[in-house]
Amino acid sequence: MNKNEGCPCSPDYEIKMYFKEIEIRNFRNYEYCKESFHPSINIFIGENGQGKTSLAEALYIMCLGRSFRTQKDREMIRFGEDTSVVRTTVFKNERNVRTEIILNRNEKKTVKINGVRKKRADLAGHILVVEFSPDDLKILKEEPDKRRRFLNREISKLYPGYYEDLAIYTKILLQRNTLLKEGNTDPSLLSVWNAELIKYGVKLIMRRDSFIRRLNEISSRIHREITEGKEELSIGYDANVPFDEDPETIEKSFQEKMEAARDTDLLRGITSCGPHRDDLKVTINGIDVRRYGSQGQQRTAAIAIKLAEIQLMEEESGEKPVLILDDALSELDKSRQRYLIEALTGTQIFLTAASVSREILEHFPDKKIFEISDGKILPYHE
Ligand SMILES: Nc1ncnc2c1ncn2[C@@H]1O[C@H](COP(=O)(O)OP(=O)(O)OP(=O)(O)O)[C@@H](O)[C@H]1O
Ligand SMILES: [Mg+2]
Repeated sequence: MNKNEGCPCSPDYEIKMYFKEIEIRNFRNYEYCKESFHPSINIFIGENGQGKTSLAEALYIMCLGRSFRTQKDREMIRFGEDTSVVRTTVFKNERNVRTEIILNRNEKKTVKINGVRKKRADLAGHILVVEFSPDDLKILKEEPDKRRRFLNREISKLYPGYYEDLAIYTKILLQRNTLLKEGNTDPSLLSVWNAELIKYGVKLIMRRDSFIRRLNEISSRIHREITEGKEELSIGYDANVPFDEDPETIEKSFQEKMEAARDTDLLRGITSCGPHRDDLKVTINGIDVRRYGSQGQQRTAAIAIKLAEIQLMEEESGEKPVLILDDALSELDKSRQRYLIEALTGTQIFLTAASVSREILEHFPDKKIFEISDGKILPYHE
């Protein structure tokens, strides 16, 4: 293959959406920095604890308005400060868009687009992003909650309405559990909560089902390519509520399952059925990857899922998402690193690492390399 073929820097690819610039103040260990980026590849090299993940996080919050590593905004504010500001200039639809997030220790964050105050939800989907970290490589062997978080995070990127439904569902679930813990057996009160839980639960189930189906289609194709046809990956929906495509049937089986569990739920003070207990069932050649897959198989499947996610996002939105690879290559062997790098084309990439091999540097002839040191972005010197 010609070396530049499929390379993001090749003139065949025009990167249509990218971060041009970032300005950070009092964010994690960054006091202040301002930097402009390359439209395609940006590599950040730095030792442990210098600020690589923090920079990745700053970029990520500008895409979705929330972090990938915490739910508490205040954790991102530099110790000893009350506010933190991140500003970016994004090139999108042939023009510059300025976005700004101010995190406040004691109040809600503010979001601005081109100087105008907006809701967080307006930011979501403004610039699409897929992040990839060593944790993503472990997703298949972790507990089900990690896979649910993955589903929630990814589906929310494509359908911001899903995030709203999930928030409502979670709130109802907590309220129902409080009622159960109090030993409240008033059937009319419980049935009100049940109806609400089912209403939002069904929405989540339907979205998860269609997302998983598409993810399965694309990732099994990619996986076949990586393994040169030797292995067949399959991702299925391991739904807690007996599953059917028809919303009314799901509603009915949800209702029945909940009624059957009523006494044990009251006894234990929790809601034992619903999509908050869902999981993914992932197999390779019919064998459960979580239980029996080798580490290499689990990682290859995780790469296939990530690459599928990028493709799915592009199909859905017509745009290629920006990619943030935070330390993602460090736990991959050479051949998987190579496959991943070659598959990432035509989009802006932020890649962080403690060190980067010559092969990877040479794969991207057109790039910017920075050094991250003690909360500063510096020019890189070999
Ligand atoms: N709110 C905060 N205020 C100030 N410093 C913080 C805050 N949160 C985290 N830090 C510090 O920021 C530093 C950089 O953390 P970060 O996770 O970005 O490092 P990293 O370069 O990704 O390291 P590694 O290679 O180990 O992943 C750490 O020393 C961490 O303790
Ligand atoms: Mg890190």
